[in-house]
Amino acid sequence: MAAHIVLSGFMATGKSSLAPVVAERAGLPWVDIDAVIAAQQGAAVGEVWQRLGERGFRALEATIAEAELRHEAPRVIACGGGTLLDRATRHLALDRAVVVTLTASPEVIAARAGDLSTRPHLASGDPAARARDLLALRADAYAECHGSFATDDVGLDALAEAVLALVARAPVAVPLGTRSYVVDVTRDQSWALTDAIAQLAPSSLVVVTDAHVYRAQQKRLESALAPLAAAGSLITLSPGEPNKNLAAVQTIWESALGAGIDRDAVVVAFGGGVVGDLAGFAAATLLRGLRVVQAPTTLLAMVDASVGGKTGFDVTAGKNLVGAFHQPCAVVADLATLATLPQRELRAGLAEVVKVALAFDPTLLELLESHAAALAGGSPQILAPVVRRAIELKAAIVREDETDTGRRALLNFGHTFGHALETAGAYRDYLHGEAVAAGIVRELAFTTRRGWTPPGLTERAARLLAALGVSPHVPAGRWAAAAGHLGKDKKRAGGDVRLPALRGAGLASIERVAVAELVADCKGAEIR
Ligand code: GLY
Repeated sequence: MAAHIVLSGFMATGKSSLAPVVAERAGLPWVDIDAVIAAQQGAAVGEVWQRLGERGFRALEATIAEAELRHEAPRVIACGGGTLLDRATRHLALDRAVVVTLTASPEVIAARAGDLSTRPHLASGDPAARARDLLALRADAYAECHGSFATDDVGLDALAEAVLALVARAPVAVPLGTRSYVVDVTRDQSWALTDAIAQLAPSSLVVVTDAHVYRAQQKRLESALAPLAAAGSLITLSPGEPNKNLAAVQTIWESALGAGIDRDAVVVAFGGGVVGDLAGFAAATLLRGLRVVQAPTTLLAMVDASVGGKTGFDVTAGKNLVGAFHQPCAVVADLATLATLPQRELRAGLAEVVKVALAFDPTLLELLESHAAALAGGSPQILAPVVRRAIELKAAIVREDETDTGRRALLNFGHTFGHALETAGAYRDYLHGEAVAAGIVRELAFTTRRGWTPPGLTERAARLLAALGVSPHVPAGRWAAAAGHLGKDKKRAGGDVRLPALRGAGLASIERVAVAELVADCKGAEIR
């Protein structure tokens, strides 16, 4: 489906004026939700509002917006100021369109508003003050978009150009109120990272990477940073999960504070999941919270770790047991960085894609199955849509359950057994994705025995993982060693673990299982 273009934002920000200009340039038809309401009801929008009252009007508006958004043929849709205040409509728009929020200052809005008898929201009291109040109330909803443009002093042609550039970029939105951000999936476009950082107008930069990534990607990093005016310090950590510890966090803290950062500094995490988690945690804690941009350079970090705001480090008791939720301000995933990624790491990253495909998206699962060899070989053509879809699926879960109190636990599929395996091997025997691959199959076998998962899915998952070059098979002795670490899972609730169980491909639910039962299973024979 080619995406619609939705223009949203407060009244008098120029949505209806801009829509035909964007539509003409894009060669698309355009509609104005207010005009559709007026035509359908045979009355001016103000009259319909009076007749139906706010609730009735909003219900009608939501129905009409939904119908427009569900059209297969792409179009430009100019919303009313309140159309996307409704969460369900907004999320549908984010799924089916590139959503642009137009903004203007309260004074400009008041000046543009014209006849206030047709603007019931501004009619009482000082219109600029009323606009300011309403903008504050609506800030969360308007922030949930793919891009936002100020219209105070900008002409329609320049705005249309900016909108179409955003449409061409096609970022994935992670809508979390005023903490919303977008993920750009690019290929060899270092300006995308430059722009994402520049947008934040940082006073200085704290750039965190690791020695392997720096060796392979130094030029790419430097060309992204060179155009930026802000001074920066570069912190090159020791690579790998065994180094995801407090000492690494301390290195970032000391180095950033030694460089004299202030609260307008921005942390840039340029690397894999370990770098992202450590830099993200340092950002969450430095000066009680700095902004962070995630620039993932591994497949695993692109499709999982860089999106969703989980940060932290490992301690003796287990993996990721100390951390914080700290959402990035932007994520820029440059697929060109995967060209230098060791094949073993690329394939391990595919396990996280298999995880979301199995749990949420049978179509993605079939795509993986039919292109397994090309994916295992790192084909950029097929990686691009796969990475993008995996990020969309992750974003959809994060927007429902940012702090992991409900459905987000489904992303833990394969991780209860996987983390135990990793911890038992002191993070040296298996890469994270390899442990997840083994965990996926082990958990599917377990939930099949419990009658939750239909027969055959375990074998299907194992076949796919093997075809992708990430073996899910682990000797029984390793599982026996892992058993003792199962009780340390973060998803533990008392003596139970919240375990994802697949009722079929794309049909995941959470089940409570006694840790003792998992331990007994883990000590059992190898699953083949
Ligand atoms: N990696 C699992 C999550 O982000 O919830």
